[in-house]
Amino acid sequence: MTSQRIAIYGGNGFIGSNIAEHLSQQELCILCLSRTGHKPMHLRDQRWSERVRWCQGDANDPDVKLLSSADTLVCSIGSPPLPTFSSNAYNAQVHSNGTVNVNAIRAAGEAGIKRLVLVSAKIPKFMQRDSFGYAKGKRLSEEAAQEFSELSDQHQVLILRPNMVYGTRHTATGKAIRLGLIFGPLSKIFSSQFNAVEKLAARVGDFISKPEGYSQSCSVLEGKEIYLKD
Ligand SMILES: NC(=O)c1ccc[n+]([C@@H]2O[C@H](COP(=O)([O-])OP(=O)(O)OC[C@H]3O[C@@H](n4cnc5c(N)ncnc54)[C@H](OP(=O)(O)O)[C@@H]3O)[C@@H](O)[C@H]2O)c1
Repeated sequence: MTSQRIAIYGGNGFIGSNIAEHLSQQELCILCLSRTGHKPMHLRDQRWSERVRWCQGDANDPDVKLLSSADTLVCSIGSPPLPTFSSNAYNAQVHSNGTVNVNAIRAAGEAGIKRLVLVSAKIPKFMQRDSFGYAKGKRLSEEAAQEFSELSDQHQVLILRPNMVYGTRHTATGKAIRLGLIFGPLSKIFSSQFNAVEKLAARVGDFISKPEGYSQSCSVLEGKEIYLKD
């Protein structure tokens, strides 16, 4: 049996690279796509990262031919939920959290991919409005994911809406920022406010290896629901 092929847009980012690391332990073929195409500096000596292909691929202008070699697409692209004080900044937020994912998801449909994971975000109710560029972007990308799930009976989607995600982030030069030192203990007190990146990655692995466990064509998990039961 050939191994499943997984393409990850944003695969060199904080969440995307943790998903890639988790999936690399499941004997899957993994393609990490980003605009630069670079493998992050801090992964230079990590053996698992040698089993992954790191390629250039801008989700703004997705390469349908490249995507057609994948069985599953993971979209982990977006910008932080910052307030915007100009129409340019607002449009940029909608673009990076919405349009870019919409383009990638539609291209995945054209490419014949049947399974999609979208890393979205949990947004408090009072901020779920289109005047907040981040929220509008996430809404547009989730709508595209929902449409993808309706393409056929075989199409299946997992939308993850984490809260603030903690773990070890890295700067472009490879310097580690250990968010877990602060947010790990805090998450024990305010458990609904934080998600551990490793547990989010484990959920993606579960969806890919046991899709039959997800009865809906479009499953949405947010906050602590993302964690697998022990
Ligand atoms: N981190 C959190 O606490 C958190 C919480 C809730 C939700 N989320 C969501 O999770 C997703 C990922 O977040 P993250 O923290 O992992 O972000 P990140 O570290 O900034 O990673 C995103 C990656 O996407 C790549 N990228 C950006 N635009 C692209 C494009 N047009 N085509 C291909 N690749 C592109 C970037 O690499 P290049 O520059 O090389 O292209 C970057 O490495 C986002 O949607 C975010 O809103 C994050």
